[in-house]
Parts: sequence; C-alpha cells; structure tokens
Amino acid sequence: MKRLADILEQRISAALQKVTGQAFAAMVRVAAEPKFGDYQANGVMAAAKQAKTNPRQLAEQVVAALDIQDICEKPEIAGPGFINLRLKDSFLAARLLEMNTDKDRLGVEKTDTPQTVVVDYSGPNIAKQMHVGHLRSTIIGDCIARMYDFEGHTVIRQNHIGDWGTQFGMLCALFDERFLQISDVTPTRKILGELEAFYIEAKKRFDSDEQFANTARFAVAGLHSGEGPWRTYWESIVRESERHYCEIYEKLSVTLKDKDIRGESFYADKLADVVQTLKQNGLAVESEGAICIFPEGFKNKEGEPLPVIIQKSDGAFLYATTDLAALQFRVQELHADTIIYVTDARQAQHFAMLFAVAKMAGWTDDTIELMHITFGTMLGEDGTPFKTRTGGTVKLKDLLDEAVQRAAAVVEAKNPDLPAEQKASIARAVGIGAVKYADYSNNRNSDYIFSFDKMLAMEGNTAPYMQYAYARIKSIERKAAGKDVDIEGELAGITTLTFTDEAEKDLAKLLIRYDQAIDAAVRECRPNYLTGYLYDLSQAFSRFYSACPVLQADARQRPLRLLLCDLTARTIRHGLSELLGIEVVEQM
Ligand code: ARG
Repeated sequence: MKRLADILEQRISAALQKVTGQAFAAMVRVAAEPKFGDYQANGVMAAAKQAKTNPRQLAEQVVAALDIQDICEKPEIAGPGFINLRLKDSFLAARLLEMNTDKDRLGVEKTDTPQTVVVDYSGPNIAKQMHVGHLRSTIIGDCIARMYDFEGHTVIRQNHIGDWGTQFGMLCALFDERFLQISDVTPTRKILGELEAFYIEAKKRFDSDEQFANTARFAVAGLHSGEGPWRTYWESIVRESERHYCEIYEKLSVTLKDKDIRGESFYADKLADVVQTLKQNGLAVESEGAICIFPEGFKNKEGEPLPVIIQKSDGAFLYATTDLAALQFRVQELHADTIIYVTDARQAQHFAMLFAVAKMAGWTDDTIELMHITFGTMLGEDGTPFKTRTGGTVKLKDLLDEAVQRAAAVVEAKNPDLPAEQKASIARAVGIGAVKYADYSNNRNSDYIFSFDKMLAMEGNTAPYMQYAYARIKSIERKAAGKDVDIEGELAGITTLTFTDEAEKDLAKLLIRYDQAIDAAVRECRPNYLTGYLYDLSQAFSRFYSACPVLQADARQRPLRLLLCDLTARTIRHGLSELLGIEVVEQM
C-alpha cells in the first residue's frame, strides 16, 4: 500500500496546482498535536506568499478543490492557513485489513526506484581482537544494510578489513618462529593462541630484537613478492582472525558473512595503477618526495592546501590509496549507485577528501551518491571513552558475555520457574538485544554512556521493555488458546472493524505509519527513528490494553481488538528482528 503521507502530499499539491496554476509542495506532516487532527499541511502559507494572495483564502480554495473524502473527514483550516486532516475510521480499518493480509511486509511497499547500494561497515583491523570500538560501525551498518534490503534495493555488504600492511611482517615473523618451534601439524589456532597476546608479543619483539625486526622486514618483502612461506603464514593469520570475528557477528545477529569480506589486501595489486592513472590525468603531483593530490577547498590551519597522500617517498601506499582503489572497484565492478561508509566521525575529513578526489578523477558523478555515515563515541559511566577498569580496551566478546550474564540475572528474578534452557536463550536475546538497542536508540551522532543498568531496565526505551511488550501480547494469544479460542481463524475471517474507543484509534494510527517510520530511518540512516517509533507503538499498545478488554470484548468489538494485538506484535517483531537484528522471545 502506498505511504499515506505521500498520498496526502500528492492530493493537496494537486489541489494547490489546480487553484494557483503553479506547483507547490503541500508539506504534509504528522499533526504536531492530536487535538488538531492526525496530519497537517503546512505548504499553503509559502504558496500564498509566492502567489501573492491571502493564505487563509487560498487554504479555503484548496480545501474546496480537494478530493480527499475517501481518506479524511472534512479538512479544517487553522491559524494563518494550516490545513488539518483527520482520518476516517473507514480508511483506518481498510489499511489495517490490508496489513493483516500482507504476512511478510505489513503493507510496506518496496521502492519503485531500486538501486545497487554498497554498505561498507565493521572493517576491523585484524590480527587484533574485535574491541568495543568496532561495535558501533558493525551494528549501525548492519541496520542500514537491512533497511535498504527491506526497501527492495540490491545491497552489497563490504567488510573492508585491515588485513594488509607492514604490521603483518612482524606477525608473520613470530608465526614463523613458533611454527618452527612446534611442528607443522600444529593447528594455526594453537600457534596463534590468543590473537591479542600474539600481536602484542610480535610488536614487543619487533621493537626490542634487531634480528626479529630484520625477519619482519624480510617477511614484508616476501608478502609483496609472494616468495617464501610468508603469504601462507599471512593467510593462516587472516583466516584465524576472520573465524574469530565471524563468531562475534553471529553472536550479534549481524548479517556480514565470509563472502562480504573484501579487505585492504584485495586492492594491494591495484594501487600502483591508481597512482599511475591519477598522475597521468594530472591530478597527482610530487610534493616533498610524496605523491599527492590537492582537492579544492581543503586547507590546513595555516590556510595551505591540504594533500591526500597516495604514495610515500619510500614507495609505500596508504589507507587513502586503498580507499581510492576500493571506490573505483565499487563503481566500476559492483555497479554501485550509492556507497555508504559507516565509521566514526574522526574519519570525516578522510572521506570528504576521498569523495572530492573521486569526483575530480571522474570516477563518480551526480548519478552516484557517496555517503559517510558517522557516529560518536561510546563512553563509560564516568563520561570518558569506554575502557576496562585498568584502562585497557574492552574486548567485544567479554562485553557481550557480561551482558548475557547480567540479563540472566534479570530473567531469573522475573521468571525463576522456566526451564533452564529457555532461561538461557531468553538471557542471550535480552543481553545482546540490550547492547544493540541502547546503541540504536541514541542519535548516532552523539556520544553515549554505556550503562548495563540502564540498558537492561524493564522500563523506558530499552530492548527488554520492547521484548516484554511483544511477549505480553503473545501471552494474550496463549491465554486464548487455553480457552480454545482460535485467534488465527478469527483473524483470517475478519471483514469489518468497528472502532468504539479512542485508544483503539490511536494505536491504529501508529500501526499504519510503520512504512513512514522506516522510510525516515532509511533516508537519514538513523536507526533511532525506528526504535523511537517502536517505543511509541508499544506505549500506545499499553494504553489500549489497559482501556480495552480483548478476549472479554463483545462480538462487535473483538475482531478489531484482536487484530490490533496481532498487528502490534507483528510490527514489533518485524522491527526488532528483521530490521534491527534483535531477537524477540515468546515469553519473558
Ligand atoms: N579499518 C578501518 C578502521 O578500523 C575502517 C575501514 C572503513 N572503511 C573504509 N573503506 N575505509 O578504521
């Protein structure tokens, strides 16, 4: 079904056109206050100003020319020329019935302009454990990818892992040493042990042991040329790291898979060409021995042009060179219409300059959209960047394990009699869900304080609250089943719906706005628009449920009420599990 706000926008714009002979936006919004109705059109004032006529009069003419009685009661004009709209019960009912029959999409239409959208997210630097710094890119990026998918776009996930560079020389050197010490049948996992410790040891040896450092440099050369055992070692290290973080993706219900990994190493043999091309077309120039590009409009503090360095004087390529190659690949080989990069705000300048260079080089034009989606920092309870008690980086795995443990205590307190296995699976859903939801529900541009107590609270805009709201509706269904009520049968047979209470209408009006909430969230890549909507929805459900008996309702009222319960549950489930990747539970 078409989005309601779009229909209203079109109808009112058409009326404006008819009256003024010009095209104006109706500017339809959800009403600021329910007492004014459900939607309001704000465009008349601006139109009147341009057409040099009285806004109030214009509003009256527009209303007279408006064809909208299938959707709204008679429109009202307020203030200088606002048009207020109130939905008809019959329209609400028809929409609810449409949602009822659309099992998978709840009436949410696919886009009619599908695109190929590359979403670049997570991108950990491997040979290190994933730490909390990777959490935000991983989950925000995943929600963006899921939403674009759901809208009907072709989404290509790209995990731009840091799997190349000189630091791999020292890792390979240590690998070599251990490999020779142990035996060639020892599994890689054993050789590497704890990855983080392996990395720290390699670095320590590199800084203190001249012979080791030489081997490391030798290894880097071998990695480039392909000579010796180095590539094989490197592959083992990379494979092992991938295994490690794919485990975490699974824990987090993040949709990144092996096939989405296209790390820096993939572009290694394309970098010389990139530099060559940019030199040939005159964009790249030598400056103090390095090869640089100076995109227009970027200056340092002293007001001097700022370079994007693409090759150092020793011949080494940089992060930016790889990103240029990746961008070219995504446009030319993946045929991206849109590329979305999800990293923290500190990389804003890097991407702004990257996009500028791509444009200068003619690799992108106005038909290709490049977006850098940024986010703030996760803070500890003391308001400084999140760290362990001793000041170290927090491993993501430890953090998630702790969340699940703490959730287990909440479940135990609430429902001690459930079977142990069920309690454990609820704790997993609640613990992981709480960490993700807390992140999603914040404006991504803000820093936020990571607090287990807040995110696991049963009250407020939290995962457990939302999961509980869902489980509560499910318990109504179970109660019905216990009384031999066939809800599914009743829902399938519903043809007429009668509204008898304002709380029913309030809930219904929110339900039919799910498509709009998703659209707003996708357009700005803001998961908090979605969590905000879901929270409003469950609060509206609470008000409805305390005002309106459902199973005890009389035969005239019951179909609508059953349907409202079912649609609310389905919407919450869809939002949480399909779009946010947060599990719902049938019981809590
Ligand atoms: N590995 C990078 C980091 O940890 C993130 C990669 C982001 N993607 C990109 N195409 N640069 O900061």
